[in-house]
Amino acid sequence: MSADPSEINENESIELELLLEAVYRKYGYDFRGYSRAHLMRRARQRMLLGGLGTISELTHAVLNEPEALQTLLTDLSINVTEMFRDPEFYLHLRREIAPILRTYPFLKIWHAGCSTGEEVYSMSVLLEEEGLLDRARLYATDFNDASVEQAREGIYPVELIQAYTRNYQKAGGLRSFCDYYTARYDAVIMAARLRRNAVFTTHNLATDGPFGEMHLIVCRNVLIYFNRELQNKVVRLFGESLIPGGFLCLGSKESLKFCRSGELFEPAVESQRIFRRRFDTEPS
Ligand SMILES: C[S@@+](CC[C@H](N)C(=O)[O-])C[C@H]1O[C@@H](n2cnc3c(N)ncnc32)[C@H](O)[C@@H]1O
Repeated sequence: MSADPSEINENESIELELLLEAVYRKYGYDFRGYSRAHLMRRARQRMLLGGLGTISELTHAVLNEPEALQTLLTDLSINVTEMFRDPEFYLHLRREIAPILRTYPFLKIWHAGCSTGEEVYSMSVLLEEEGLLDRARLYATDFNDASVEQAREGIYPVELIQAYTRNYQKAGGLRSFCDYYTARYDAVIMAARLRRNAVFTTHNLATDGPFGEMHLIVCRNVLIYFNRELQNKVVRLFGESLIPGGFLCLGSKESLKFCRSGELFEPAVESQRIFRRRFDTEPS
């Protein structure tokens, strides 16, 4: 391992490529388009925790022990999330985008990389308050099966609710946040009506195809882990999945600036990284 944690030496870099190739060839999970700095940080952390001396030892474990693959998938998928994450984003969505969504008789919304579902329930709450939930269908996807399962269940630790309630209020929430869940001992379960129109399923942005005729795609804090080429491919996938005039929402540190397929979009609310699919350009 290099002494300076930010430095990647040649051998480590080769070993990392071999790990990615092994995971792809044996299991079909494609991490080859992820940022090398992110992958190296996570691989080194796993080596430390597992008492492994080299990335090659990690590769050997992943090839031979199914549990090691599961651990690696969890390591690489960083599923940190929260309800009404970046409340200002939801405030703008409510005030500036919801009035446009209201002009459609039905709505298809895709949460790509939804992690454990907090983002999806936040959207359902907002749609219900804006009178749009009944006409909406939400597709909630992630490549991590365990996260999708948790999203489907909608059960969250009770100790997070105070922070989520604060976010909800800052996001322009119109009611009391406790209208949306039932508390049971140390957990809360989100109201069933919030997931009635939601489909939870696995989808890998690196290898799977587009969804059709979406009005809104929310893909926040996912592209940040991808290299430029994969970002470009995924943004094109979003361009193909959205109707002309549909919206794409990215995370606060993400942009379309350096991305060729960014030309399919124009800014809608630039400060909140909300973009609109242009009417006059087709994916090449
Ligand atoms: C940091 S979380 C973001 C969760 C949520 N969107 C948010 O902003 O709070 C990143 C999510 O992206 C998912 N992810 C990473 N690579 C993916 C891929 N190739 N396809 C689909 N989901 C992916 C991870 O499993 C993880 O749940």
